[in-house]
Amino acid sequence: MSRNKPASTTMVKVENIDFSHQDIFSVVDSFYRQVAQDQLLKEPFKSVQDWPEHIERLTHFWWIRFGGQPYMFSQYNPILKHFYAGFNRKLLEHWLKLFHKVLDEKLTQQQANLWKEISAVMGQGLNARNEMLKKQHQQQEKNQ
Ligand code: HEM
Repeated sequence: MSRNKPASTTMVKVENIDFSHQDIFSVVDSFYRQVAQDQLLKEPFKSVQDWPEHIERLTHFWWIRFGGQPYMFSQYNPILKHFYAGFNRKLLEHWLKLFHKVLDEKLTQQQANLWKEISAVMGQGLNARNEMLKKQHQQQEKNQ
């Protein structure tokens, strides 16, 4: 369900670099089509029942992360979702490698480089929070 979905040519600016809604969609769409077939990533992503819906949600996630106006009802809870998906450093490195390849294929070099930096920093943050959750979880299991 979407309201006022931006036109594909609508732009957001991140650190003075323009991204159209179509730029973001085309990266997310190509990336998750590959994730769905990927030997390492398809297993943790088996929770995804509806890939087109996932691609819509993740396009929206990046659109608002890049400063665009929200146009879908969506709440994101990546820390817990990743924890239950078995997120770890090895999967993260593979995810980032594939994501960065798609960025190089779909975007200008300037756009790709900026998005690579942003995704690498987010990946570090996700990993740190995930390690904390893992420790808490192990501690709780010991206490039981
Ligand atoms: C920088 C790296 C990554 C970013 C920025 C990222 C971002 C996100 C975001 C924003 C969501 C949506 C969360 C929500 O719906 O509440 C999501 C969902 C998910 N991600 Fe990631 N992710 C990353 C890496 C990974 C890795 C390495 C894995 C492998 C375990 C992974 C597996 C998943 C799964 C399984 C979902 C849930 C899909 C569902 O809705 O069922 N992600 N990710």
